[in-house]
Amino acid sequence: MRTSHGVTVRLVRGDLTRQTADVIVNAANSSLLGGGGVDGAIHRRGGPEILAACRELRASHYGKGLRTGQAVATTAGALDARWVVHTVGPVWSSVEDRSALLASCYRESLRVAAELGARTVAFPAISTGIYGWPLDDGARIAVRTVIEEAVPPVEEVRFVLFDDHAYVEFESALAAQR
Ligand code: APR
Repeated sequence: MRTSHGVTVRLVRGDLTRQTADVIVNAANSSLLGGGGVDGAIHRRGGPEILAACRELRASHYGKGLRTGQAVATTAGALDARWVVHTVGPVWSSVEDRSALLASCYRESLRVAAELGARTVAFPAISTGIYGWPLDDGARIAVRTVIEEAVPPVEEVRFVLFDDHAYVEFESALAAQR
């Protein structure tokens, strides 16, 4: 679908680390030093350059780590991308509404990508894995935020969904925005 800002939003069923895009967004943790899920896959396939760049960031501007909802760019290493934008999603809470923090991950990642001059940005379903965010709500927040916030030079935003459940939830979230 095309947003009112002229940005194409697409869904892809597959592995984020095999995408070709200017920016691949990592669902990181605040340490920026790797983890499981998407984070682990990006560091595995992207190689040690990415971790080295993350360590640089920790040693310079992010001594205490990256805060939830923030985003920062590094090299993409061996990935077929120019940059990886790392963002830290909120952990799901049934007692506290952290939706604004999840929206901030998409908004800040798009802001950093646009500043870099990226035209294509590939996102995972942030927080919906280890961080336990329900997929239907995570998809709704992701799709709504990207439709509102993605502006040129970004031309295409791709949600890369790792399994059928995620893909179906994003499909219905996208349909609800039409
Ligand atoms: N490609 C695309 N999507 C993937 C991939 C992949 N290779 N691997 C996992 N996913 C999906 C998961 O199925 C989930 O839907 O990405 C979504 C996010 O899951 P996680 O990677 O677990 O990320 P998150 O829930 O944000 O938790 C972040 O997990 O990996 C650690 O270091 C990371 O501590 C941080 C936490």
